[in-house]
Formats: sequence, C-alpha cells, structure tokens
Amino acid sequence: MSIDKSVSKLIAEATVARKKSEAVFSQFRVGAAIETKTGRVYSAFNIESSSYGLSMCAERIALWKAITSGESKFKRIAIVSDALDFCPPCGACRQVMFDLAGDIDIYMTNKNGDVKKEKLSSLLPQAFTAETLSDVRKDSVGRRD
Ligand code: THU
Repeated sequence: MSIDKSVSKLIAEATVARKKSEAVFSQFRVGAAIETKTGRVYSAFNIESSSYGLSMCAERIALWKAITSGESKFKRIAIVSDALDFCPPCGACRQVMFDLAGDIDIYMTNKNGDVKKEKLSSLLPQAFTAETLSDVRKDSVGRRD
C-alpha cells in the first residue's frame, strides 16, 4: 500500500528502535512506535529475560512508555521486525492495546519494505473489553474513546 510521509516517519522510528532490541534469547528483534492523537511518538523494542515468559513485546513497552509519560489518546502504531513477512502483534498486545489505546490503526511491515494497515478491531474481533465488565463494575475503566 502507498503511505504518507507521517506514516513513513513512524515506521522509521520503529526501525531505529528495533536495532536496539534486547532479543538475546530469541534473536527476533522487534521495534514499535506509537503515535498519540496530538502527534507525539513513543518508540520501544522487545526486551527478553532468561525466564523466557517474562520477556516483553515492543508494542506493550511503547504503549506503557507513552502512558507513563501522561498520554491517553492514541492514533496508530507501527511494528517492524526481523520476520520476512508482516509481523502482527501477539494476542496479549492486541488485548492490552485495545484496552488502553482503543481501536487504533496498526501498520505492519515486511522485509521488502511493504506496509500493511489493519484496524486493531479487525485483528481482535469480538474483544473482551471494559464494557464487558460494566454489569458488575459501574465506574469507568480503560482508555477507549
Ligand atoms: N515480540 C514482539 O516484541 N512483538 C510482537 O508482535 C511479536 C513478538 C517479541 C517477543 C519476544 O521477545 C520475541 O519477539 C519472540 O517472540
């Protein structure tokens, strides 16, 4: 797909982040860059642990970095990896992004430099959300628009 300059910039930030990846066990480097509705970008890479399950994906680190910097409204995220094919976010990242960022655009890249865009809701249909909890929990939770 053809993409505008701002998306290329977001992908470039994810690409820079991927180079710093601490994928010491899997050697699978991932970079992510998430953009807020006001145009700020937060990038991150995956960080692994010798206790493999404690490793963390680039997408969630980028999102948490943004949230801990005071952000709450998000527009899109770019994901760049070492895979030949497009690297979609894992199931855990899909859930956490849907809860904390809402139905953002996901830009995935492959090794040829092609770009694919999907709505998060199309990657996570019939999602479990804060609304699902609303029958027992009356106060507002989550950050969805
Ligand atoms: N990983 C990510 O950072 N993002 C994804 O979307 C898929 C997987 C990381 C987790 C782990 O460090 C490595 O890639 C292999 O699964």
